[in-house]
Amino acid sequence: MSTILILGATSAVAGRIAELYAEASTKEQSHQIYLIGRREDVIQTVSQRLGETVVGTDSVDFVDLSATKLCIRKAFEVMGSFDYVLIAHGVIGDQILSEASVEEALTVIEVNYTSVVAQLVTLTTLMANQSAGKIGVITSVAGDRGRPRNYTYGAAKGALNIYLQGLRSVRWGSGLEVYTFKLGPVDSPMTVDHEKNVTFSTIDTVAEKIVQAFESRHYVHYIPGYWWFVMWVVRWLPEPVFQKLGFLSDR
Ligand SMILES: NC(=O)c1ccc[n+]([C@@H]2O[C@H](COP(=O)([O-])OP(=O)(O)OC[C@H]3O[C@@H](n4cnc5c(N)ncnc54)[C@H](OP(=O)(O)O)[C@@H]3O)[C@@H](O)[C@H]2O)c1
Repeated sequence: MSTILILGATSAVAGRIAELYAEASTKEQSHQIYLIGRREDVIQTVSQRLGETVVGTDSVDFVDLSATKLCIRKAFEVMGSFDYVLIAHGVIGDQILSEASVEEALTVIEVNYTSVVAQLVTLTTLMANQSAGKIGVITSVAGDRGRPRNYTYGAAKGALNIYLQGLRSVRWGSGLEVYTFKLGPVDSPMTVDHEKNVTFSTIDTVAEKIVQAFESRHYVHYIPGYWWFVMWVVRWLPEPVFQKLGFLSDR
């Protein structure tokens, strides 16, 4: 039996991942899933879809750090341990507004970075005595290089990548494994206003790849995998060349 905590369970990608775990749950290898997210009505809809694999739900705004901590502790009391934890929430925000409004900039950083760090501190404290356990966090290729289109969001995801790198090292060999899932663009509610092109993946594709990646012994995954090569090039482009490439340096 595996216990699975999903934070940000109202996310379309997280909801599909939860479904995949519920579908894979059998008598021999059963899964228990605990869902925490912001919108109670969506959490209940997701929970009903998953059926009896769900052993608990909670709704909380992750910007409320102490309320979120209590929810995670409650989930731990119910489950006894966390075999898998997925942190999936995020907000892209309004890039142009974030350049003029301190509130917008800090909200984007708070949701995508600060709230996740707070959750990781609570989780690693609770899981300290477990001999095994996996924590996976969804970040973004936007965290690999600051671009005019989304650099406030990208900076928060990039900071999160560094935090996860450090945490992974500290816990290396302890049994607690820390995964970074760097997603390319996905056709999900987050990008509903974005013009779609060939770089967009489907929710089903990325959800399946994240479930597979959680079983590998590699800890940083570009999803889909070809983003590793794309971002390697984008990361190392010299600044003068980068600025000449409108598809990267324009809004
Ligand atoms: N879609 C993409 O192109 C893309 C690309 C790279 C990375 N990602 C990352 O992938 C993850 C999943 O996103 P998605 O594509 O599934 O989009 P999504 O369906 O819009 O999911 C984002 C989720 O974050 C939740 N959230 C935002 N602020 C929150 C807060 N203060 N407290 C609690 N929950 C909050 C939202 O909750 P509500 O339901 O309450 O609004 C929503 O469920 C995110 O981390 C995102 O940054 C997405």
